[in-house]
Amino acid sequence: MDRLDVAETFHGITFPGHLHTQETFQYAMSFKFQDTDTLIVTYPKSGTTWMQEMVTLVSSKGNPVRAQTQPNWMRAPWLEQYYCPQVLKASQGPRFLTTHLPYQLLATALQGTKTKVIYVARNPKDVVVSYYHFHKMANFLPNPGTFSEFLSGFVKGTVHYGSWFDHVKGWTSNSGNIHNFLYITYEDMSQDLRGSLERVSRFLQCPLVEEELTSAERSCSFSSMRENSMVNYTLVPKEIMNHNKGKFMRKGKIGDWQNIFSEEQSCSFDEVFASEMSESSLEFVWKN
Ligand code: A3P
Repeated sequence: MDRLDVAETFHGITFPGHLHTQETFQYAMSFKFQDTDTLIVTYPKSGTTWMQEMVTLVSSKGNPVRAQTQPNWMRAPWLEQYYCPQVLKASQGPRFLTTHLPYQLLATALQGTKTKVIYVARNPKDVVVSYYHFHKMANFLPNPGTFSEFLSGFVKGTVHYGSWFDHVKGWTSNSGNIHNFLYITYEDMSQDLRGSLERVSRFLQCPLVEEELTSAERSCSFSSMRENSMVNYTLVPKEIMNHNKGKFMRKGKIGDWQNIFSEEQSCSFDEVFASEMSESSLEFVWKN
């Protein structure tokens, strides 16, 4: 608890110090991936918890018991966070893992494995808004200041977990080096949850019949997840996340950025986006 407001810097990127140490980064970088592993990769606030719920429900064939009895960080621990080795030691069957690390830090560990990688991206304007609100309730993140100040740090890549642009570009431009890679967006999941569950189920080679899919879809809805203490972070002590200052399951919407970005901030962000992503062949589903 005494490391709550301390940042840990690794390869020029800052991370919350209560979860990360130099040793935990080393552990992640030299992790022995297995071909049966599935790794969920996201920049924070892009739909990480949602995808953790989706893979849980797909692998349990729609049976909600595990999702309702085990916290998400036990089902798909973050590779770079201190409790990961302990969780994996106690786990059985194919492993689900999560990471916010940039590609270059895991490239060597992933090389030559058949680990399945699911990359979830989200409109960065919605990411920064979600991240800004999250900073207000998460006591392990720095004070975000005004939205304008926070946006400026996000664009420069000086916020915790580094640059959104580098994260997305790093993973997607190297997807050819990854044996099994699924790129999916928060917007895909929001617009077609059932279709997204089907994509995940095909990718994991874990077919679901109609009723199983319906049950998975129900558990992965925003309203279900918002009430599920195993994913809504209400299990986390108040000193770490203060739910009186906001909710982890906040709005769960596409386009909330329009409620906070000024016209000028939006135009200037679009310019940075166009320049940063000019080389990227990704088709972004979001509209600016
Ligand atoms: P908002 O703050 O915009 O509401 P992460 O898990 O990567 O930290 O992302 C958190 C964001 O995903 C939050 O966004 C949260 O509400 C949203 N989210 C989580 N589960 C969701 C679901 N089932 N449907 C829609 N959004 C969801």
